[in-house]
Amino acid sequence: MTKRRIITFLKSLRFRLIIIFMILGILPGMLLRAGMLKSYEKKAVSNKSIDILSQSKILANKMVASDYLNDISSEVITAQLEQLSMIYDGRVILIDHMFHIVKDTYGLDQNKTIISEEVMKSFRGKEVSNYDSENRYIEMTIPLTNTDTNEVIGVMLVSVSMDSIVANSDYLKQNLLIMEVISSIAIFAISLFLAIHLTKPFGRMSKSIEEIQTGYGDSNLMIDDYSEFQDISTKLNELTGRMKILDDSRQEFVSNVSHELKTPLTSMKVLADSLNGQEDVPIELYKEFMADIGGEIERETKIINDLLSLVKMDKSAGELNISSVNMNELLEQILKRLRPIADKQHVDLVLESFRPVTAEVDEVKITLAITNLIENGIKYNKPEGWVHVSLNADHQFCYLKVSDSGIGIPEDSLEHIYERFYRVDKSHSREIGGTGLGLAITRNAVLMHRGAIKVFSTVGEGTIFNVRIPLNYIA
Ligand SMILES: Nc1ncnc2c1ncn2[C@@H]1O[C@H](COP(=O)(O)OP(=O)(O)OP(=O)(O)O)[C@@H](O)[C@H]1O
Ligand SMILES: [Mg+2]
Repeated sequence: MTKRRIITFLKSLRFRLIIIFMILGILPGMLLRAGMLKSYEKKAVSNKSIDILSQSKILANKMVASDYLNDISSEVITAQLEQLSMIYDGRVILIDHMFHIVKDTYGLDQNKTIISEEVMKSFRGKEVSNYDSENRYIEMTIPLTNTDTNEVIGVMLVSVSMDSIVANSDYLKQNLLIMEVISSIAIFAISLFLAIHLTKPFGRMSKSIEEIQTGYGDSNLMIDDYSEFQDISTKLNELTGRMKILDDSRQEFVSNVSHELKTPLTSMKVLADSLNGQEDVPIELYKEFMADIGGEIERETKIINDLLSLVKMDKSAGELNISSVNMNELLEQILKRLRPIADKQHVDLVLESFRPVTAEVDEVKITLAITNLIENGIKYNKPEGWVHVSLNADHQFCYLKVSDSGIGIPEDSLEHIYERFYRVDKSHSREIGGTGLGLAITRNAVLMHRGAIKVFSTVGEGTIFNVRIPLNYIA
């Protein structure tokens, strides 16, 4: 558990932000410290060398002028030599042309002979300066030149310890390190604060999503700390909105289906109970009630069949059984089948074909669609009314128009008529016999053919349905 939590933390944006902020905050300081110490030491050594060299040269000139090499009794120069050696914490050695040490401020090697590469170089007139960084001292050899003859009469050797510089640099190093540790702690605290602050909206977002998931909080998700989050919030709200609509319509559909399937069953039960409750029921009443029960069974069957064809269309969207269909013949067949119903209602049924039309359609589905439109025209009509069906086409589409002289559809119902189980006048429709699935099936079938359906209606005057279907099926 803890191991998993550690891994999750290491993978988190928060941890990565902390690392990035720490690197950005600490690395420049570290580089700066290393660079500063190095350049400080170099500069300090070079400054001190220049200083010593110029002091030594002044003294060298004085010694040449007073012939100090041959007679070291001059107290002034001796004192100045001692002073130089004292100020710089170093040793001064004077060497004459025989490589004898004439003067050693440490008094250790007086009268000894010295021959070294640097000394030889200086006898050839060169100033030599060497820094021994390991032992931390500078050694300089300066030629003592007779200004008149330009002849090197001796060499002055100065060696100075650089301990003070190193000590300074060590002190600096220590101070910088302390400062660095303190600033690292501060940077860590700031990084932690920033990382927590910057990643907070993520936490809030996931909590809000969780609330939506668990069904709490009907309110919309609105995390707008970053513009990206605004985007995500809006899109998520759209998504949940659509899911809610889908869920609502699913629930409504299920309750409608249950209700519609229950109604015929209830009627049958009432009929059967009333027969069972009576004794010596006349055979005529039996027959009448049984006919009613048969009617209810028919009604139930129709609802189930309609539902099945709707479900099939939903499931096999795009799976059409396309063939070339003569639309004129198809319409004649449909009208032939519906004519008995129209006659019963005393409604005049007329077909008008403007030209021969052949279209690539799914014959079964298109038949369902057209049958329902004409059936509606007959059902929702007045006695002695009419239904006109017309068929036309251009090079691209087949146009079908079903108009009637019926009761019409109120304007506020027009947008609902394609919904499953929607009926304008429930009580009236009940006696006419309908479930409100017909137009849903019609619209589905037309849309599956990439066609369009439009309705125009005036209450009390009649209704017109216009259907347009492409002649060639577009997959
Ligand atoms: N031509 C029309 N004239 C007047 N009202 C109509 C017409 N066509 C449809 N309607 C109204 O629209 C409603 C929905 O029609 P739809 O065809 O979907 O269902 P239905 O005819 O009631 O039942 P079903 O077709 O499933 O047997 C009808 O109940 C009716 O109120
Ligand atoms: Mg109908």
